Amino acid sequence: MGLRAQGALLLTASAFLTVLTCLTFLTFLTGASAIGSAGQTIGQRNPPLVIDSITGRDLFDFYCASCHGRDGRGHGPVAAALKVPPADLTLIARKSAGTFPAARIEAFVTNGGEPSPAHGTREMPVWGPIFRGLDPSDTLAKVRISNVVKHVASMQVP
Ligand code: HEC
Repeated sequence: MGLRAQGALLLTASAFLTVLTCLTFLTFLTGASAIGSAGQTIGQRNPPLVIDSITGRDLFDFYCASCHGRDGRGHGPVAAALKVPPADLTLIARKSAGTFPAARIEAFVTNGGEPSPAHGTREMPVWGPIFRGLDPSDTLAKVRISNVVKHVASMQVP
């Protein structure tokens, strides 16, 4: 490598370092101002769209309980605002002659099933594309859906 090239490389490296130092300092400043105004609601973040946990219980609480309630019986905090009341998820097996139709439920959660004209507009969000769109690994999206459906299966009343 020629002397000039070496010099250019050094310059680039030092420019990079300067930028890095500035960034660190900026982060420090923003951090400091957040502390300075403690008690105010600055720095509030939006909730994550996909939670790290892949357990059925956690996924259900995060993605389903707002409408269906934590116990799955359809009385979540959002339920009252919906035109179509959320289904009581504990009765699915009972309505299917005692057997939980796992494949059908998985398809419903993934694709949303058939819209019912009697129900007006569908109010049940379709999670398949949502999980897939945000998750770089498709397998993990399937695992999440499968786990949340297993959790619904575990809620069934005899
Ligand atoms: C925004 C509210 C809302 C959320 C969030 C929601 N649902 Fe629903 N869900 C509904 C409504 C309303 C229905 C009624 C049926 C319809 O839309 O056709 C329903 C129906 C269902 C059904 C069909 C039950 C049956 O008897 O066939 C299943 C299964 C279901 N939801 C599972 C889930 C799961 C699992 C989640 C979370 C991943 C979830 N829901 C999140 C509103 C919601």
